[in-house]
Amino acid sequence: MSEERSEEHAVPPPGPAPDSTPGTDGRVVLEAEGVSKHFPVRRGARALLGGERRAVHAVDDVSLRLCRGSVTALVGESGSGKSTVARLLAQLYPATAGEIRLDGRPVRAGRGRAFRAYCRHVQLIFQDPFASLNPVHTVRYHLTRALRIHGRAGSGAAELEKALAALLERVQLTPASRYLDAFPHELSGGQRQRVAIARAMAADPRVLLADEPVSMLDVSIRLGVLNLLRDLKERLDLAILYITHDIASARYFADETLVMYAGRMVEGGDSETVTQRPAHPYTRLLLASAPDPDRVTGDGGDGGEGADPSASEPPSLISPPAGCRFHPRCPLAMERCRERTPPRFELDGGQWAACWLYDTSEDASAAGDAPAAGTGRGAAS
Ligand SMILES: Nc1ncnc2c1ncn2[C@@H]1O[C@H](COP(=O)(O)OP(=O)(O)O)[C@@H](O)[C@H]1O
Ligand SMILES: [Mg+2]
Repeated sequence: MSEERSEEHAVPPPGPAPDSTPGTDGRVVLEAEGVSKHFPVRRGARALLGGERRAVHAVDDVSLRLCRGSVTALVGESGSGKSTVARLLAQLYPATAGEIRLDGRPVRAGRGRAFRAYCRHVQLIFQDPFASLNPVHTVRYHLTRALRIHGRAGSGAAELEKALAALLERVQLTPASRYLDAFPHELSGGQRQRVAIARAMAADPRVLLADEPVSMLDVSIRLGVLNLLRDLKERLDLAILYITHDIASARYFADETLVMYAGRMVEGGDSETVTQRPAHPYTRLLLASAPDPDRVTGDGGDGGEGADPSASEPPSLISPPAGCRFHPRCPLAMERCRERTPPRFELDGGQWAACWLYDTSEDASAAGDAPAAGTGRGAAS
C-alpha cells in the first residue's frame, strides 16, 4: 500500500501542468530549486564521541531550468559538483534540501516502477561509453532491453526489428545491420557513445542529461557527437543538460551556460554572453585557462604569457570557505566576500552572477568596499 502511494507521488500525473514560470512559454520541463546534496563523511571514534557531523558539501543551493528544444551547459572544473547535479536530476539519489520538479510537479527519488516511469521522461548519458555498455552483450541486446523496459519494443519480431533500426538510424549508425550484432569492443569510441545515446533514446525521453558525453572521445570525433545531440534536440524538441569542463565547447553547443564552482552556481546567461563577456571572476579564470582553438601557438607551447591562473587549488568541500567559496582564489576579493555568500545579481540580457562586485545597493556603498574602478562590470556600466 505504502509502495503504491509513493509511486503515485514520485511521478507527476499526466495532464497539463500549471505554468509557474512566466516568460518561458511553458517550455520548462525539468527544474531544480535550491537543491543541495551533502554526503556524510564516515567518522572516526573520536569524532563520534565529540558529536561532530561532517559532510561533503557537493552541491549547495543550486537552481536551474531545462527547457524543450534547448541545450543548457553546466560548466566547472573537476569536483565542482556537476555529476552530482545530474544524478540528483536523474533521481539516482535524494536531495538533502530543495525541490526538483518535472512539468511543474515535485518529484522525489522513488524505486522500482516509480523510478522507471520517471526514466521514461529523463535519461542520463555517461562520460565513458565503455563502462556503461556491458562488454558481453551486443548492440541488439542493449537496445532491445531498453525498448522492452519502456514498453516500446512493439509486438512481434518484425516490429522490434523496425524499432531497432529506427534507433540506430536516429544516431546515424547505418545500415543498422552492420551494428546490431556488434559487441562494444568492436566499435570505435564515437560509435559506442552513439549506441549509448540510442539506448537513452529508446525511452523516447523529453530530457537528456549528458554528463561529459564527449570528454573521453578523440578530439576529432567530439564534434560529430555534439552535432548528433544538437540534431536530436532540434528534431525531437529535447531539453538537454550538457555537462562539461570545457567552456569553449559550451559556447559552440549550448544555448544557455551555467557555471559552477565548489558546489555552487556562480554565473549564468546565454552562452554567447557568458563566454564573451564573463561577469564572475571565476568564469574569467576558466576562460583564460581554456585552450582557444583560434589561438595558434605553433608547437603547442604555452606561449610564455605568465603563470597559469588555474594553478591554485579548489577548496575542500568538507569545510568550504565561508562567504563566497571562490574568495581565496579571487583576485578581486573584498572584505564581505569572506563573510557573506553573494546572492544572484541580475545583469543585462538575462545574465546573472553570484558576486558582490555587482551589488549596486545602498549597503554596498555604505560597506565602503566597492571594487576599484575598472575591475567590475556592474549592471550599470
Ligand atoms: N557518493 C559520494 N560520496 C561522497 N562524496 C561524493 C560522492 N559523489 C561525489 N562526491 C564528492 O562530491 C564532490 C563533487 O563531485 P562530482 O559531482 O562528481 O563533481 P564533478 O562531476 O564536477 O567532477 C566531490 O568532492 C566528490 O568527491
Ligand atoms: Mg563529473
